[in-house]
Parts: sequence; C-alpha cells; structure tokens
Amino acid sequence: MATAGSAPVVNPNPGPAQVSLLADESVLTRAPSQRPPKPEPGRNTNPQAEGGATGLEDLALGAGRIRVDDKRIINCHADLNQLVPFKYDWAWQKYLDACANHWMPQEINMNADIALWKDPNGLTDDERTIIKRNLGFFSTADSLVANNLVLAVYRHITNPECRQYLLRQAFEEALHTHAYQYVVESLGLDEGEIFNMYREVPSVARKAEWALPYTQYLADPHFHTGTPENDQKLLREMVAFYIIFEGIFFYVGFVQVLSMGRRNKMTGTAEQFQYILRDESMHMNFGIDVINQIKLENPHLWTEDFKQELITMIRDAVQLEADYAHETMPRGVLGLNAPMFEEYLQFIANRRCAQIGLPEQYAEVGNPFPWMSEVLDLKKEKNFFETRVTEYQTGGALSWD
Ligand SMILES: [Fe+2]
Ligand SMILES: [Fe+2]
Repeated sequence: MATAGSAPVVNPNPGPAQVSLLADESVLTRAPSQRPPKPEPGRNTNPQAEGGATGLEDLALGAGRIRVDDKRIINCHADLNQLVPFKYDWAWQKYLDACANHWMPQEINMNADIALWKDPNGLTDDERTIIKRNLGFFSTADSLVANNLVLAVYRHITNPECRQYLLRQAFEEALHTHAYQYVVESLGLDEGEIFNMYREVPSVARKAEWALPYTQYLADPHFHTGTPENDQKLLREMVAFYIIFEGIFFYVGFVQVLSMGRRNKMTGTAEQFQYILRDESMHMNFGIDVINQIKLENPHLWTEDFKQELITMIRDAVQLEADYAHETMPRGVLGLNAPMFEEYLQFIANRRCAQIGLPEQYAEVGNPFPWMSEVLDLKKEKNFFETRVTEYQTGGALSWD
C-alpha cells in the first residue's frame, strides 16, 4: 500500500510481473531470444489472479465473441478488455451519471471563506476545530479510498462495465483530495498539520486504522479470489469500504460542515463538501449494487456466520464514528450535539444494513437531520448554497437519481 508510518505492511513487493513487463517498452524491441518466456496460449498469464481474468492475458487469436451470459462480477474468465455487450446496465448508467455530474474544486468561490477565516471574530474556536478536523480526516481518507480502489478492489472485479465506473470513481477521489488541498491552500492553513492529522489525532487515526487491514489483504499480490473464503474476504472488504468507510465514517463530517453552510458560514467549503457528498452517495450506491450482485451470483457466500460478522463490523463502526463526533464537538456547536449524531449514525446504519439485506440493528431511531436527505437531492435543494449548483445546469447535467 502507499501508506507509511504506523500502518502495518502486508507485502511490500511490487505487483504481478506481467504488469511490469507490459509497462517496459524495451521488451518489445528485444531479440526473441531475449524476451521473457511466453506462457502457454490461453492460460491466465497472471498466476496471482487465478480467481478470474485480469485483462492483461495474451491475446487468444480467433477466440469467440463475448456473450452476455459469460459475464460475472467476480471470478469471470471472459475477456475484460471488451466493454460490450453490457450485462450490468446499472453500472454503466452510474458511469454516465457520474460523468454528467462533473465538477472541479477551483470553480467554487472561496472568497467569503477566506475573509471569515481571517477575521479573528469570524468563527468560534469550536467551529474552527470542526473545519480543521474534517479537513484532516478527509484529506487522507479520500487518498486511502483511491488507493484501495486502484491497488485492491479493481484487480478482483472481473467485469468491464463495473471497472469503467471504478475508473471514474478513482478520478473523483482524486478530485476530492484536490478539493481538500484547495481549501487548505485558500484558507492558508498549515498543510502539514492537516495532512498529517491521521497520524497525530487519535479520533482521526482510528478510522483509517480500522479500514486499512481490509484493503491490505486484498492488495497483497498473492491474494486472489476463487475460493469461498477469499470471495468472502472481497465482500467483507467491500462492506468495509463502501458501506462503512464511505457510507458511515464520512457522515459526521458531512453533517458538521454542511451545517456551517446552512448557517451561512464557510459556504465555499460547504459547497465543496456538498459536491463531494453527491459523489460519495453514488460511490456507496455502486458498492451496494456490486455487493448485492455478488450475493445473487454466489449465494453460498452469504452464510449466517458471515452476516453476523458484517453486522458486528457495522455496529463497531457506528461506535467509532460516534466517538469521532464526541471528540470533534465536545461541547455542542451549531445547534448540534454528539447525542444527535449517535442517533443519526444508528439511523443511517439501519439503512445501510437494509440495503445489503441485513436486519436493521437499532430500534426506534429517527433522523435528527432530515435536511441531509434534501441535500442529497439537488433537484429539490438546488439553491441550497446559492449560485453554483444552479449555474452548473448550464455546464452539465445535474440529475443524479
Ligand atoms: Fe471521495
Ligand atoms: Fe468515494
């Protein structure tokens, strides 16, 4: 993994040899005797990927055309370089929707934020803490998600239309990291303090520490799917990242920063977060679709023990995120307090559970932030942060249902 410091290293070796050979153009110009040995025709040339194809296999000249029925989300051996015929239309549609929602961080006006931040009486200490803690958490969290996608998840998803969305998602994660960097630079914050926060502030560190072991397992070049145990590891990792990391760990920060925007404070930063929330919501929904499709195609993986394990993960994560809420706002601020976040986290955890076919875990909880549901629907709330969202309708489609 591209992480350093306290994070344990699973396997520091580079990726499969096949990848590095293809990247080395000099291989093509060497005399035949100097070229690396060619694998037998038709064989999967990546011994680490026996669970499914990688897309880097030798060409099978004369092989038949792809049939829809050949396609599967995991452990598929159909050629991954042929996008069509589509089987999973939902994945392709999400790719199109995500492209239609394109935005760039530097298009958002940060002038009001800069003036407010520099005014000694512009914000309370607690409000400044909320901004800095969340920039600290998200600035590295989105890189972690991107590295998880590129170095772990992508290798094991053996479907071209899903991979097409993953590539778009990976770019969006880069945009999100860019957005946090842009806010840090605009406000003149200490970039070392913000970007190193996940190695300095326990409540920020704990969330990354919780997630890292899952992706480290999958990024290990010796790991491949194809056995029930390893296929469950992939599913477990997707629940860890899509349902928990992007679906629970992001939400205290989203509510806190968007609450500031609702009170007309740090509106540029809040607008950045609003666009990011829109992207993240689609990432999570894509992950839910993939998880449910893997379940459909591999019902033997969804055992009672496995479900119980996922429920325990989700319940632990709710507690971890509630702790983050306490530590980022120990006194209550902006009309928010930590107990409200506990209820909100239980509310969204119930929703996440239901979305992947697990029983709801928390009885009689409501949504203390109903406006968050409206933020998620920009068609209803398009003037929420004044101009930019409306302006985008001239530059690109805004519909993201
Ligand atoms: Fe992101
Ligand atoms: Fe994301």
